[in-house]
Formats: sequence, structure tokens, C-alpha cells
Amino acid sequence: MSEPQQEGTGRVALVTGASRGIGYGIAEALVARGDRVVITGRSADALQEATERLGADRAVGVQGKAHDEAHQAAAVERAMEAFGRVDYLVNNAGTNPVFGPLAEADLAVARKVFETNVVSALGFAQQTWKAWQKEHGGAILNIASVAGLAPSPFVGAYGMSKAAMVNLTLQLAHEFAPGVRVNAIAPAVVKTKFAAALYEGREEEAAAAYPLGRLGMPQDVAGAAAFLLSDAAGWVTGQTLVVDGGLFLNAGF
Ligand SMILES: NC(=O)c1ccc[n+]([C@@H]2O[C@H](COP(=O)([O-])OP(=O)(O)OC[C@H]3O[C@@H](n4cnc5c(N)ncnc54)[C@H](OP(=O)(O)O)[C@@H]3O)[C@@H](O)[C@H]2O)c1
Repeated sequence: MSEPQQEGTGRVALVTGASRGIGYGIAEALVARGDRVVITGRSADALQEATERLGADRAVGVQGKAHDEAHQAAAVERAMEAFGRVDYLVNNAGTNPVFGPLAEADLAVARKVFETNVVSALGFAQQTWKAWQKEHGGAILNIASVAGLAPSPFVGAYGMSKAAMVNLTLQLAHEFAPGVRVNAIAPAVVKTKFAAALYEGREEEAAAAYPLGRLGMPQDVAGAAAFLLSDAAGWVTGQTLVVDGGLFLNAGF
């Protein structure tokens, strides 16, 4: 006798940059509640490993660079082919190739940061809207950053791009209502490969700046993401939810 199939929610999410880190954490949380996911990333091997961990019947990987328009279209097409729908889009793939103040920022690098973090997110949103959400509805979640909400001496160009993602969230929330809700999450430092340079070798000192006493984990963002990508958040759109272990409380006096 065969095992009964897991019921699932019937919903499908496309999560960009999800072979590890925050994106993987979000994909894992969505699969755990019964969604199916399409995940993207540049390394085919990393994607293969991630889809195996998530479950081959629940997850499909599409290799490519987030800023590549052909890849954006292919990822949405693959979701439609594999699962027949794409209810949720998580624009998570992001880059921060330089540290330093804007006064010295290389303009070519600033353009690349914008291309990968902001223009890509718009491209994926357009494709998802066209292929499914315009007709059937759904939700979009953009992974911004506290660096988009307050200045930082370390990550100027990155912060500019994340601030633009906050506005992209507002703009799309307005354009895509009432069928599609669009929200963002602005995390502070979360323990991933991406952020390792900000805490490695000094984690205790870094964590001391957080009222909640620790750095974030991908699961902290995933919990908020699962809420925003659910019917429980059915009257929430255009918001940027700060998930920061209380870091912004330090701005008080
Ligand atoms: N960690 C933090 O402290 C923090 C705080 C605030 C916001 N964020 C944001 O959260 C998002 C995820 O960051 P993370 O910390 O989880 O990073 P991560 O651990 O380095 O994971 C990044 C994921 O995205 C993929 N990726 C990277 N560049 C890509 C590109 N150009 N095109 C397609 N896929 C790409 C990576 O796989 P490949 O390398 O194989 O492509 C990997 O799966 C980013 O947008 C970041 O700005 C992070």
C-alpha cells in the first residue's frame, strides 16, 4: 500500500537566491507548511543540494543570475510548468560587493548593486504578475534591510538599493492591489555567509548591540515571511516589517 500524499496548501512560491541563508530559510518554512517552492541561485550544485533537502516533490531549482531577464522569465515559466501556478514571489537574491562610504563608492559597483537588488526584483515581479498573479492574485515579499531605513558608514550603496526596494514595495502594492499584496522585511544582521564579515570573530561584541541579545537567524526572517505570505496577513500591504532583534530601539534617547 502506498503512503498517503501530504495534503499541502496547494500554493506555490518562487524564492530567489534560496540555496542557502535567508532565502533557504524562507523556502524551508513554506515547504514545512505545505507550499511547493521554486528556488533560484547561481550555483547549480548548491541548488541541487537545497532541493534535495527540501524534498524533490516539493522543490524545483532554476539556476541563473537574478539580474538576467531571460533567467527571470525562465524561473517563472518553470514554476508554471512544474506546479501550474505561482502564488508568491520572494525577492531575496541580493548583493553587497563593497564596504565603505558613498563618497568613495565606485559608480560601476553602485550600478551593479542596483541592478541585482532592485531592477531584478522588479523584473521578477513583472514576470510573476504577467504569468499568474494578475489574474489569480497572490503576494510578493521583498527582502530589504535596515540599511535601507537608516544610514550606515559601511554599506552606503547597498543601503541606497535597499531603500529603493522599500519604495518598490509601496509602488507595487499600490499598482497590484487589490489582488496582490506586496510587503517587505528589513532585517538587521542575520547569521549567513553574506553577513559573516560583519560578525565573524566578534559575535559576542556584535550581539551586544541588540536589545534581544543575539544576532538574527534565517528562521527569524522566515517566520515573518511565512506570516506575510499567508491569508493571516490578508489586510496587510505596502508595509516594511523591521526584523532586527530590537536594534532600532538604540536610536531612542
Ligand atoms: N544576512 C544579513 O544580515 C542580511 C540583512 C539584511 C538583508 N539581507 C538580505 O537578505 C538577502 C539574502 O541574504 P543572505 O544573508 O541570506 O545571503 P547568503 O547566505 O549569501 O545567500 C544568498 C543566496 O542568494 C544566491 N545569490 C546570490 N547572488 C545571487 C544572484 N546575483 N543571483 C541569483 N542568486 C544569487 C546565493 O546562491 P549563489 O551564490 O549560488 O548564487 C544564495 O543562495 C539579500 O537580499 C540580503 O541583502 C541580509
